[in-house]
Amino acid sequence: MQIRFADARPSGEYALVLPVAGKDRAPLGSLGDAQQAVGAALDRQRFEGEASSVSEQFINEGGTVRRLLVVGLGAGSNGGDAREKLGGTAVARLLTSGEKTAVIDVNGLGYDADAAARVALAAALRSWRHDRYRTKLKDNQKPTLEEIVIVGGSSGAEQRYTSRWAPVVEGVSLTRELVTEPANIIYPESFVERVRKSLDGSGVEIEVLDRAQMEKLGMGALLGVAQGSAREARLMILKWNGGGAGQPTAFVGKGVTFDTGGISIKPAAGMEAMKWDMGGAGAVAGALKALALRKAKANVIGICGLVENMPGGNAQRPGDVVTTMSGQTVEVINTDAEGRLVLADAVCYVQRNFKPSTVVDLATLTGAILISLGHEWAGLFSNNEELAGELTKAGNESGDKLWRMPLGEPFDRLIDSPIADMKNVGPREGGSITAAQFIQRFIENGVKWAHVDMAGKAWSDKASFTYEKGATGFGVRLLDQYVADVLEG
Ligand code: BES
Ligand code: MN
Ligand code: ZN
Repeated sequence: MQIRFADARPSGEYALVLPVAGKDRAPLGSLGDAQQAVGAALDRQRFEGEASSVSEQFINEGGTVRRLLVVGLGAGSNGGDAREKLGGTAVARLLTSGEKTAVIDVNGLGYDADAAARVALAAALRSWRHDRYRTKLKDNQKPTLEEIVIVGGSSGAEQRYTSRWAPVVEGVSLTRELVTEPANIIYPESFVERVRKSLDGSGVEIEVLDRAQMEKLGMGALLGVAQGSAREARLMILKWNGGGAGQPTAFVGKGVTFDTGGISIKPAAGMEAMKWDMGGAGAVAGALKALALRKAKANVIGICGLVENMPGGNAQRPGDVVTTMSGQTVEVINTDAEGRLVLADAVCYVQRNFKPSTVVDLATLTGAILISLGHEWAGLFSNNEELAGELTKAGNESGDKLWRMPLGEPFDRLIDSPIADMKNVGPREGGSITAAQFIQRFIENGVKWAHVDMAGKAWSDKASFTYEKGATGFGVRLLDQYVADVLEG
């Protein structure tokens, strides 16, 4: 999608998008002769300008017919995510409409550079699609929209978009691509190659560990998960050195490229969803891309723990005891609780090798978090109040919302094992919390740590104003905003 900023509406063919704040009809003043008819139509449609509401009309402009979208902003045109709703709603309506150009006229709304740039951000995010395998799309199902022109934003809007938000669009797009691709296409090795290509020239340094190297390091938990699969595991290490002193910050992602459950196999219904069990690793890769493209002044390490969890003759069994890189042993009660096993070795590796002050892990870790928080929030667990506050704030600012969940000794006790240092599952109750407690056992003293359980967020069965049904790209904007606020701020 081409994004442009302009001072005045262009000439020629385009769809005009006119935002209105609630019942304020002042913006219709710019429609010339059509103003009255459009206003009357809005009345007849009982259009009240609520956020994301749309009235689609056709007006006559000097003999040519122009498509007009009046888009509601809600009463407070500058509040919350009104601007992103505007850009995203317009694109959702126009993407396959036959129109090639959309002109979004924000004149009179008093938008500053960032507000106007965020209209563009949402427009670009909402235009993302993955049609690679749809060879028989009818012409009228194919996207036609090629260009979005934001008119009337203040002068710095274009610069703001290019430097701050276009990189985020690139990062989110990479994540969505990785999440959308099926597991016969994206497996540990091909994940690495896809990310390598995407980050080529970005300045992100890449290191990859194969099975032999991980064996040497003693990563028995991660490798135990991988051993049932014909696909070899990988640990991908991404380094963005944007400058600044002090210890780096580490982002660690669960990258289970397919989760059958292993020998503790999942039911068939809906199992195809487990292709997106690498959403945490996808978010880490996308975030590093965004940070590099916008040259963030921060030192960040991204770790993707990549495995496929399969049953098979060589798969690990319930009851197996594995030794983690940390030296701690784990009784694998349920081979479907594999994400925490992967993360245990991944967080150990990053702490030993990079001495980060802060570790944030992201994982589609538990079905239980969906029971707690539905699809609205990801769960946030942390050993540090300040970090929890910063991430919650970044979540609210970016739209990748987090809800704090508890940790504590009574939960920790639930994963003690009679045969090993711990077992990989607790009771059904509080399943997301005991999963977090498990990861915490691999966090070293003095390290600030947060765990984001995003099982309800990587994929959406409903479209929103920043994404179509499918991969959301959750986590990229969260991490990007956290870096901007806390590490660069
Ligand atoms: N990847 C799943 C979690 C998941 C479930 C994500 C549903 C998205 C939707 C994870 O590996 C898993 O299987 N967790 C188990 C843990 C249980 C065995 C303790 C679960 O949540 O059922
Ligand atoms: Mn599982
Ligand atoms: Zn899983």
